[in-house]
Amino acid sequence: MSEKTGAAIEFARNNQQRFVEELKALLRIPSISTLPEHAGDVRRAAEFIASELRRIGMENVRLIETATKGHPLVYADWLHAAGAAPTVLCYGHYDVQPAEPLDEWISPPFEPAERNGNLYARGAVDDKGQMWMHVKALESLFTAYEGKLPVNVRVLVEGEEEVGGEGVAWFVREHPEELRADVALVSDTEMFAPDLPTICVGLRGMIYTEIEVRGASIDLHSGMYGGAAPNPFVALAQIISKLKDENGRIQIPGFYDRVASPSAEELKAWKALPFNEEHYRQTEVGSPELTGEPDYSVLERTWARPTLDVHGMPGGFIGAGAKTVIPAKAVAKVSMRLVPDQTTDEAFAQYKAFVESIAPRGVVVTVRLIHSAEPIVVSTDNSFIKAAVSAMHEVFGTDTVFVRGGGSIPIVGDFVRGLGLPTLMMGFGLPDDNLHAPNEKFHLANFHRGIESIVRFLSTAGG
Ligand code: BES
Ligand code: MN
Ligand code: MN
Repeated sequence: MSEKTGAAIEFARNNQQRFVEELKALLRIPSISTLPEHAGDVRRAAEFIASELRRIGMENVRLIETATKGHPLVYADWLHAAGAAPTVLCYGHYDVQPAEPLDEWISPPFEPAERNGNLYARGAVDDKGQMWMHVKALESLFTAYEGKLPVNVRVLVEGEEEVGGEGVAWFVREHPEELRADVALVSDTEMFAPDLPTICVGLRGMIYTEIEVRGASIDLHSGMYGGAAPNPFVALAQIISKLKDENGRIQIPGFYDRVASPSAEELKAWKALPFNEEHYRQTEVGSPELTGEPDYSVLERTWARPTLDVHGMPGGFIGAGAKTVIPAKAVAKVSMRLVPDQTTDEAFAQYKAFVESIAPRGVVVTVRLIHSAEPIVVSTDNSFIKAAVSAMHEVFGTDTVFVRGGGSIPIVGDFVRGLGLPTLMMGFGLPDDNLHAPNEKFHLANFHRGIESIVRFLSTAGG
């Protein structure tokens, strides 16, 4: 380890509590990208990050407006590294998912609280806390290198990841020259188990859709019209029940045609991971049984098989008590996770045609695409992966495992396919961090080990 790397790590260690306090200030901003009433908060979070990037010494710091939902990107760079140092594109997102159900939070979602070595708040780990690790690693390096960095760095932080990432996709498509780099660093995934450094090499894609079913032209008295008027909820339930069988197999014709099996080496490596299905069922899922395709392991089912889920069915009467009404309209929010080599275009076309073909009599069915992300598997054969493995070995004292993630990060596909960047997904969340759920947390030891890993990675990248 160079003297300067050592100095950067020492700086990070001496400033741990300040780093956490700053993160808390960012977590107090409810930057919920899907809710229009929070647009001002989303922008405040962007400005908070931009001003810190400026303070630590990044250059060309600016908010980039996008034409989509209107949540800005934060961009910054520092491109004066000595010699042939590579350029690292650090990516993260500052938007968060809604916090509901609020009454299940032990402490309020936007009032960050430390308990048992964890920091609890919406966005603590997904992804404000992990994005902040990048910023704090850069600050530590700037200090140790006296206003310089060991590599060239571009920072790109988006505010629409949780709603599909269309703005950042537009920017990557239209301005690839502004993102010229040798590697993308993404910290928005998890470790497979506590103390087990993990690189994520694949993400599922997704199509998020709405099925709208319309029956009568207005809500009707269910006594006066029940028996003659179609019920859109019943029609919707009939449609949904045909999408998947009891073994979790999706019934859409052609849906599995392009599903690629993981390689034999990958499957072998997954078998060797410390995974206990019963423990997973009890501590993470909490259901009486796990479901899904019986011929595939849980890891295969969640990482390498497509799936279909229903997220909510707005409409009709959902207040307390009873109301006898036949709603005019019902909606279901339905998403499918995709895996290589499925494509979002083909999967959506197959799904839409199938839903239309099974629509019951008496209703009008409309299928809409809300957002989508392509599935991706990245190559592990490059010097950046090796640098990351050795950086994390220094910090955790153990070898890195390679996993895939069941979730999606829409822009990663564009980094890999659009920009041709090797992408390093080095994340520090834990399986029980409650992403998107009540009591989201970040294990603070991992926040600090993450900063240290990134400091070491950036110091040795390309070397
Ligand atoms: N950070 C997650 C994705 C993730 C989580 C990847 C765990 C691997 C392991 C990301 O913020 C996320 O939640 N993405 C959404 C994307 C969607 C809204 C397009 C997802 O996966 O639901
Ligand atoms: Mn995330
Ligand atoms: Mn998320």
